[in-house]
Amino acid sequence: MKKIVLLLSCCLSGIYSICQNAPVAIIPEPVQLVQNAGTFVLPATISIELPNLSALKQTADFLQQRLTKATGYAVSIGSNVPTAIIKLSLNKTPNQVIGNEGYQLNVTTSDITITANQPAGLFYGVQTLLQLLPKEIESNVAMQQVQWQVPCISITDYPRFGWRGLMFDVSRRFFTKNEVKDFIDQMARYKYNLFHWHLTDDEGWRIEIKGLPKLTEIGAWNVKKVGYFGTFSQPTPDEPRNYGGFYTQDDIKEVVQYAKDRFVNVLPEIDVPGHSLAAIAAYPELSCSNGIDNHGVASGEKIKEWATRTALVDDNLCPANENVYIFLDKVITQLAQLFPFDYIHIGGDETFKTYWEKSDAIKALMKKEGLKNMEEVQSYFGKRVEKIVEAKGKKVIGWDEILEGGLAPNAAVMSWRGEKGGIEAAKLKHEVVMTPSSFAYLDFMQSDVITEPRVYSALRLNKVYQFDPVPPGVDSKYIKGGQANIWTEQIANIRHLQYMTWPRAFAMAEDLWSPKEKKNWNSFVTKVEQHFKRYDIREIKYAPSMYDPEFIAKNNNGQLQIELKNEVTDLDTYYSFDNSFPDRFYPKYTAALTPPKDAVMLKVITYRGNQPMGRMIAMPVEEMKKRAGIKK
Ligand code: ACM
Repeated sequence: MKKIVLLLSCCLSGIYSICQNAPVAIIPEPVQLVQNAGTFVLPATISIELPNLSALKQTADFLQQRLTKATGYAVSIGSNVPTAIIKLSLNKTPNQVIGNEGYQLNVTTSDITITANQPAGLFYGVQTLLQLLPKEIESNVAMQQVQWQVPCISITDYPRFGWRGLMFDVSRRFFTKNEVKDFIDQMARYKYNLFHWHLTDDEGWRIEIKGLPKLTEIGAWNVKKVGYFGTFSQPTPDEPRNYGGFYTQDDIKEVVQYAKDRFVNVLPEIDVPGHSLAAIAAYPELSCSNGIDNHGVASGEKIKEWATRTALVDDNLCPANENVYIFLDKVITQLAQLFPFDYIHIGGDETFKTYWEKSDAIKALMKKEGLKNMEEVQSYFGKRVEKIVEAKGKKVIGWDEILEGGLAPNAAVMSWRGEKGGIEAAKLKHEVVMTPSSFAYLDFMQSDVITEPRVYSALRLNKVYQFDPVPPGVDSKYIKGGQANIWTEQIANIRHLQYMTWPRAFAMAEDLWSPKEKKNWNSFVTKVEQHFKRYDIREIKYAPSMYDPEFIAKNNNGQLQIELKNEVTDLDTYYSFDNSFPDRFYPKYTAALTPPKDAVMLKVITYRGNQPMGRMIAMPVEEMKKRAGIKK
């Protein structure tokens, strides 16, 4: 309300510079924000003061570069600058409220101050400051026409969770070191602090391991296929295996440092014992069947029967083979040296036991160790791997399947098959990271399959925004936080990766940082639209899917009825059944539609006022009938 009054009064009084300001749109929403009258206008010579700390060098450079590039002003940094107009300082006595990552930001008509207990807080304060500046701050060339001002404001802010992650699968598709760095840069701007790097899978081993050269000579390469991953043709011997790549250990160090400069921890994942075909293609002796399939690294062809949980190719490491533990010791030793983060992710998901069930070695292991079933075999493996990880001074985290057959004593659980695994692990007093596919899988489609590239499930923006990492009845002290996952089976390039990530990662950022009571869907949508304008300037792709309606097909006594639902609530939907392209002069949707008898196509488009917002969508009536279960 205060904001509206301020805006109205300034517009009426004709103070142009204030009216020019876009509404404050900070993502994730801060804990406490009070907007005051007035603005601070940046002078053409800007001096920044900050503590003389090496941990802050990147933060200062980052702010200086952004300001210099976009404003064209002279921007200097120093540690004792009486004339500074942007002052970053660390509290001498810690402020108990804001913790290690929080900050306070104060903008008055004469200066900008950011204070924090720790360097991370100052970094986040700077991100907020950049979001308060006009959108052109994202420009890489100086924008002369812009009035560079910040609204007077007072913010106290700190995160709800200490684990705010995004997972990036670079195995199904390879993404270059620079693409990975850009991704980390982008996530840090929205106060994510955990980059989960899915480095190995059936389609590629992406990290150099000294002493195991075939992992990257063989395991990092497959056949480039184009189409729908999972249904690609079987690679033939004459097709070149030249698609893929890997990160050298120098690359890894560079990425880890780049992330550290942005206060992002890097969690490496080596997905074992399943999803290990790339390693097995390199070292067949690691599987119980000794690489009998001789299949090679998968290229997106069908290698599993998902419905029956049957492996068509042996992609499991063999828990009965001591050489597997020697192999993993080598890998984990190097991971522990390369990644400073406390945890190593050991995968554990979707280990189909088809080949273990046929293995004499597994039968002998079960007898020797008294293991009753395949889940206990996997649990035996998990516990052995935990010992290796802990011997290197690290902690284990794994997908929630590691609960089956008995959780390793200290393992943290990443709950992805809904919240059930996380709830169970928290009850067992284990640490949990929540990432249920129903809220957190950003590889799922963002609206109807009729417009989106096909994936087996959908997850709309508003559903992501409803995510709460702490399920009812669970002791929140075991929930470290949450993350969204970006699997790349159906994401073949970096532009599409951006499309799938944004704006849903805006929603997840707010789920993980902001107090629950500060979340508000309608104001979130308004903010997202402001950030779209910033992305337009930076040329980062995002999905416009939130403007497209959801189609609900109903069978009303054999009669098809079509309901349309908009997640952005101030949109109107216009439609046609006569094959022409609707606009706002067409019928407006107000209630469920019954298609005319011979109609073949429903076309729809959404508008806000007289502005088209959504895409022109053509939905065959036949398709709606099929979904409603109507035969004819
Ligand atoms: C997973 O999605 N298989 C963890």
